[in-house]
Amino acid sequence: MERLQKIIANSGYCSRRKAEELITQGKVSVNGNVVRELGSKANYDDVIEIDGVMLNKEVKKEYFLLNKPRNVISSVSDEKGRTTVVDLIDTNERIYPIGRLDYDTTGLILLTNDGDFANHLMHPKNNIPKTYLAKIEGIIDKETIDKLKNGVVVDGKKVNIVDFKIKKRDLDKITTYISITIIEGRNHIVKNIFHELGFEVIKLTRTNYGFLDLGNLKSGEYRPLTIKEIKKFYGN
Ligand code: URA
Repeated sequence: MERLQKIIANSGYCSRRKAEELITQGKVSVNGNVVRELGSKANYDDVIEIDGVMLNKEVKKEYFLLNKPRNVISSVSDEKGRTTVVDLIDTNERIYPIGRLDYDTTGLILLTNDGDFANHLMHPKNNIPKTYLAKIEGIIDKETIDKLKNGVVVDGKKVNIVDFKIKKRDLDKITTYISITIIEGRNHIVKNIFHELGFEVIKLTRTNYGFLDLGNLKSGEYRPLTIKEIKKFYGN
């Protein structure tokens, strides 16, 4: 059993709030009986009608890869009215981002309306590596490299650094570009790793998520995932 407004929203018909309005207005019936109480529950197999029209509970599953620009928030909506990753994608389905990138982080983010897929990707047991390119203030020295090799403790938990590579040391601007691959998905994890090592990340881009990369997508551009890519995440 699930709350009626949730079933309606999950079908993609409208938002949960709008569904609540429809219920209180007496426009929704379950198996022929009008339901006006907001706490009411129903089954996904029940016949739900809105204004006499049967609700289509077959949701089309969608999967997108977006190159997230800077100053875009990784959520479905934002109370401060900032642009969200969902705003950038032209769809009528209720998609959401799989995990988060910080407001000022750019790069590869996946969005879907398939909850099983999102859970599968975010489950730590699936060990999906994510690669980031970080611009660091300062020059990363041998001592810091050794620390990275041994893994860095952030908030009492060691982060295993799967791989890293110094891309460039700019001795004029006193910055280092480093790519770093981790499995961890904690918020601000890359910034916190370098913070622990005494460095500040001044720019951060996610370049890879598992076997996916940004390809030719420019900032703000997106593409659907292929069936082959979706299956590959399940090991098929
Ligand atoms: N690590 C961070 O610090 N920020 C991100 O957006 C992603 C990983």
